[in-house]
Amino acid sequence: MIDRAVRIGMIGCGTQANVHFAAIKELTEQIATVAAVCDLDDERLAAACQLWPQARSAKDYHEMLSPGDLDLVIVATMPNTHEAMSLASLEAGANVLCEKPFMMNATEAQNVLAKAETAGLRVQLGTNMRYMPSSQYLHRLIEGDSIGTPVYAKAWGCHDYPPVWAPHYHLATSGGGVLASTLVHTLDLAMWIGGSPNPLTVSAATNKLFPGKRGPKIDAKIHERYDAEDLLSAFVRFDNGAFYSLEGNWCSEAKDYHSFELTTTKGTVTGAPFTVKVDVEGEIVDQTPTLDGEDDWFKSVHTQDAALIGKLRAGEAWALQDARQLLNLQKIVDACYESARSGREVVF
Ligand SMILES: NC(=O)c1ccc[n+]([C@@H]2O[C@H](COP(=O)([O-])OP(=O)(O)OC[C@H]3O[C@@H](n4cnc5c(N)ncnc54)[C@H](O)[C@@H]3O)[C@@H](O)[C@H]2O)c1
Repeated sequence: MIDRAVRIGMIGCGTQANVHFAAIKELTEQIATVAAVCDLDDERLAAACQLWPQARSAKDYHEMLSPGDLDLVIVATMPNTHEAMSLASLEAGANVLCEKPFMMNATEAQNVLAKAETAGLRVQLGTNMRYMPSSQYLHRLIEGDSIGTPVYAKAWGCHDYPPVWAPHYHLATSGGGVLASTLVHTLDLAMWIGGSPNPLTVSAATNKLFPGKRGPKIDAKIHERYDAEDLLSAFVRFDNGAFYSLEGNWCSEAKDYHSFELTTTKGTVTGAPFTVKVDVEGEIVDQTPTLDGEDDWFKSVHTQDAALIGKLRAGEAWALQDARQLLNLQKIVDACYESARSGREVVF
């Protein structure tokens, strides 16, 4: 329980950190404040200090982490730094919200989750899509068993350009391309809504279409470092009998779209557009409800941050995600890359 403003440290003050900054500002200074900021980049650090003049600042995150001073650290750098920063934050007594993708591999994920458990602190991954109104509704619908058992899902993340505003395309920094950086959102969502089963087998193939596609439009410096996959297809079997098909593409000419479709024994639901269709005595009946609020990306980060901060203040658990789910997501990402490399199915 925290009966004052929640004190937050931000490591990395780039694109996504600024979405969090806006979310925290919206909560007001009585509820939460950014008490420490860190970035290697002088301009970004200066901009963060302007937003939060009372915050201490540092280029080295170790200096930013005064033991016992921060309630929450948001790790908003690229994944190659997530493990060390999360461990150091937990060591300093802070709970951690780490941006996706979680870690570079499952070993790192296990290290962080084990440390959090020993320290009695919380770790959550920034899977903000879980906070969209349609996601919350579908999770409750499937959990409530009124639309049957999940048997199959498709999850996709297809875009017309690679995300070149940050090195998501550079493996040593990002840990993976379209799967780890993009598709991981809808994969997580489809798994969570589908009852969070455990994976049994994974088979995947990947390709890199850049610079053959989009090359002339993208800075030459990026060409030198772009070594991540930008096309992926994968197939995952789960222990509840369900199987999922995954598709990721950063150079799609078809359209820019990401979503999922989940088939159950009684109907089919989709994320975007949000639909609920049910078989009623052989007829397909549209049972899509009208929900309060829209499935806006930025809004879902605001809802996520408000929920986590609210739970910290109330001394309640962050119940929306647990260590097993986090580890399973990371294991599937790792296994997709291993399968694509070896040309064989990975069996857990
Ligand atoms: N949840 C979402 O919807 C969403 C959206 C975009 C990005 N992200 C995730 O957020 C993370 C950051 O992505 P981004 O697009 O904001 O990247 P970015 O490059 O815009 O920002 C990262 C910042 O971290 C700083 N940084 C790097 N190494 C550092 C270090 N050792 N110490 C201190 N600062 C350091 C960089 O200087 C940069 O300012 C990634 O994991 C990305 O996948 C999540």
